[in-house]
Amino acid sequence: MQYNLAAEKMPTAWFNALPRMPEPLKPPLHPGTKEPVGPDDLAPLFPMALIEQEMSASPYIDIPGEVLDVLRLWRPTPLRRAIRLEQALGTTARIYYKDESVSPAGSHKPNTAVPQAYYNSKEGIKRLTTETGAGQWGTALSFACAQYGIDAKVYMVRNSFEAKPYRKIIMETWGAECVPSPVDDPSSPGSLGMAISDAVRDAVSRDDTHYALGSVLNHVLLHQTIIGLEAREQLAMAGEKRPDVVIAPCGGGSNLGGVALPFMEDKEVRLLAVEPLSCPTLTQGTYGYDFGDTAGMTPMMEMYTLGADFMPPTIHAGGLRYHGDAPIISSLVHSGRMEAIAYPQSKTFEAAALFAKVEGRLPAPECGHSIRGAIDEAMAAKEAGDDRVILFNYCGHGFLDLAAYDDYNQGRMIDA
Ligand SMILES: Cc1ncc(COP(=O)(O)O)c(C=O)c1O
Repeated sequence: MQYNLAAEKMPTAWFNALPRMPEPLKPPLHPGTKEPVGPDDLAPLFPMALIEQEMSASPYIDIPGEVLDVLRLWRPTPLRRAIRLEQALGTTARIYYKDESVSPAGSHKPNTAVPQAYYNSKEGIKRLTTETGAGQWGTALSFACAQYGIDAKVYMVRNSFEAKPYRKIIMETWGAECVPSPVDDPSSPGSLGMAISDAVRDAVSRDDTHYALGSVLNHVLLHQTIIGLEAREQLAMAGEKRPDVVIAPCGGGSNLGGVALPFMEDKEVRLLAVEPLSCPTLTQGTYGYDFGDTAGMTPMMEMYTLGADFMPPTIHAGGLRYHGDAPIISSLVHSGRMEAIAYPQSKTFEAAALFAKVEGRLPAPECGHSIRGAIDEAMAAKEAGDDRVILFNYCGHGFLDLAAYDDYNQGRMIDA
């Protein structure tokens, strides 16, 4: 069963979490001086419109018309009820998922790639660099740059680059260049922290180039809130007053923030982050200032972190291999407003495979984390005999992750 929002009901403003945080965020610090960074410090990397959004206190921020025009290629996205999954589990819960896999890149990532490319093009920027883990963000930015006539260079974490050659082909088709990272050590499997360093180093070396980040920063989570804003309307269409729990996987925190933040002020809604046990930032990291990248070139942010030099094992959910987390998400977990749970990858693939069998859709490995969380909530509801309303984010499809499914199907998957 699906609930589709009419095109004219698509949100025209993003939801800003910053003025609503239970504990105000501490400012990012300059990596050299350790003093709070100002707009001018960030100007070599980002356009002023994004820097303003990064610090804005407005409760809502209008989405420019030229951004809405591109988002309309696939938005509003459907809200679906996973009735066959409910039946397979024999649960009393109602399970809904927001299907972000219908975007051009196959995930939620274009929701922020499009406005980021737009604001850069408005400032006269001709070229963007970025990192990509699973390849989803790199494809999303390549697509977005193609819409506004900007060149894109994508540094892809080497182990994903080698495991997923088709991602590079999509990026090249949209006119982008994609190279493995780290560029200076071909023997390293790479990490998101290393790829960010490569992309930032490139951007600061050229006047015509800026850098774009696919997660973590406040403006990225802001752009993703269109997911939760739409879902709120669609749950009402389904006759639900509110979800009891909102669930999403957490790599840097952008799809989680996107689906969950619009519910943050309703205290009756639980918010749940799901992360891999092999990169357990929120559940086992420490809370404090750390760098966003491995080389220490990015501003320091207060967040949960496993240490900027933490090298996560090469699990299949490449998008969740990040040592830190968004300051907004970290602060919500720290204040107790959001919960977090970690699973080994075999448990997430077990959930993804069950979902694929009964619902038909093949989830991205990152999304398997969401589904694992939703299934465990549904089983808890069954045990308690309650009719919990569960909303999870279906953040991407797994059509380019088939080697991972093959490992799982053939019994080769190991829990790092
Ligand atoms: C499909 C998918 N889901 C989730 C993530 C995790 O990122 P975030 O936590 O920023 O949503 C990624 C990152 O690449 C991804 O590709």
